[in-house]
Amino acid sequence: MDADVFPPGFFAREDERTDRTFYGPPRFVTHIDDGAIAAVGDLYAELGIDGSADEPRRVLDLMSSWVSHLRTAPSELVVLGMNAAELDANPLATQRVLADLNEDPVLPFEDASFDAVLCCVSVDYLVRPVEVLREAARVLRPGAPLVLTFSNRLFPTKAVAGWLYADEPGRCTIAATYVRVAGGFDEPEVSLRTPSRRTYRGDPLYAVLARRSG
Ligand SMILES: C[S@@+](CC[C@H](N)C(=O)[O-])C[C@H]1O[C@@H](n2cnc3c(N)ncnc32)[C@H](O)[C@@H]1O
Repeated sequence: MDADVFPPGFFAREDERTDRTFYGPPRFVTHIDDGAIAAVGDLYAELGIDGSADEPRRVLDLMSSWVSHLRTAPSELVVLGMNAAELDANPLATQRVLADLNEDPVLPFEDASFDAVLCCVSVDYLVRPVEVLREAARVLRPGAPLVLTFSNRLFPTKAVAGWLYADEPGRCTIAATYVRVAGGFDEPEVSLRTPSRRTYRGDPLYAVLARRSG
């Protein structure tokens, strides 16, 4: 099915070595500028998935590092990524999971056990994004949001070719298509969370938001 939607070579990468090689050394950096980081935090706060929520929230941050961009800590934050030192340094995390989603897209969590699944500036590195997002749907409670955010910066050798060579509107379409093909979500909403590209000189921040159906 995916082959009908994504042409041959779409998920090829210049660096096809195991991701453990590239992500072995920790990178204590931010991958987007302050304006884009603020836009991610605003979106999470607006959705009530940080510590500002009245009720307990169990949140999963996929492809995480030492920062999750939530303004305040949700009651539980599970961070999943490739680098142990980065995950250990994430001050909001209550659980840390080392996993390579390109080797095994299965999420090691119970069905319907999360109130939100996040993936910030990383969906472009997935070679099996549809399987990962199908898993995200499985672990989300009905009505709970999946939030994919991305900018125009990336590690070019690790991004999949289809994403790397797309323009910004094209990348929005790709991320929304991943969600639609995965299934289990209501229709995704695509938005630019930073000011208009005509006037704004900072990093753009796009969001694809979809709620678990049912
Ligand atoms: C550009 S960084 C973004 C980190 C963080 N989400 C942020 O907003 O700053 C990409 C992240 O994706 C994670 N990652 C890359 N490939 C992965 C894979 N195959 N499985 C799981 N995580 C992966 C890396 O550990 C890295 O932290």
